[in-house]
Amino acid sequence: MFPFLKKLLANTPMNKSTSAYEFALEKITLPPTPLVLDLGSGQGTGTAYLSRALSGANIIGLDATYDCLNWETLATGAGHVSFVQGDAREMPLAGERFDALFAVMTFHCLPEPERVFQEMARLLLPGGVLVIADVDGHHWMARPFEWVEHLAISPITRAYTEEAFHQLAIKAGLTHISVYSRPNRKSFMMWFVAYKETDRAT
Ligand SMILES: C[S@@+](CC[C@H](N)C(=O)[O-])C[C@H]1O[C@@H](n2cnc3c(N)ncnc32)[C@H](O)[C@@H]1O
Repeated sequence: MFPFLKKLLANTPMNKSTSAYEFALEKITLPPTPLVLDLGSGQGTGTAYLSRALSGANIIGLDATYDCLNWETLATGAGHVSFVQGDAREMPLAGERFDALFAVMTFHCLPEPERVFQEMARLLLPGGVLVIADVDGHHWMARPFEWVEHLAISPITRAYTEEAFHQLAIKAGLTHISVYSRPNRKSFMMWFVAYKETDRAT
């Protein structure tokens, strides 16, 4: 996609909204000073929101590009924030470190979903939580969303169903899976939550 179009889309009210992050935080419990990865941090609005909501946290935003990031204007909070450039398929980060990994409105545009799931699982600490918030592949809006994305943004966009996420998660060694949606069916979002298995020492 052209950088100017990307920047324009990043500044729409929908892309500036942090409500998907807020809803996600209601569904999980984190330790007091978690290390958190925001995969596909884009303009950084969600990353900054996490730093306000999780005051003791260390938050890393990772994106393939810094095209949309406006560091100076971000309203960060007490949590420490940094950004890393990298590809979701091979993230330049050490493994087994993160208490939580968020992928908000990002997974639909990533190539090689199996490989990305393996990478996300690699980064999580045992017991760490993965939250994917994205367009629900079962919602009637999913197909129009894909058509528009294929025409204007990316030919690989895919709105995944919870069953598809479930299979990918199990293959990557994730467990204790839950799926949430807003009670209001007008929302086309789904929140997929899974945990990395804790070591089963005997
Ligand atoms: C729609 S934005 C999501 C922004 C943010 N999470 C939010 O909800 O406000 C999706 C982001 O995924 C990034 N992205 C796409 N492919 C990627 C890849 N292979 N690795 C890392 N990031 C990628 C894009 O650059 C884009 O910034």
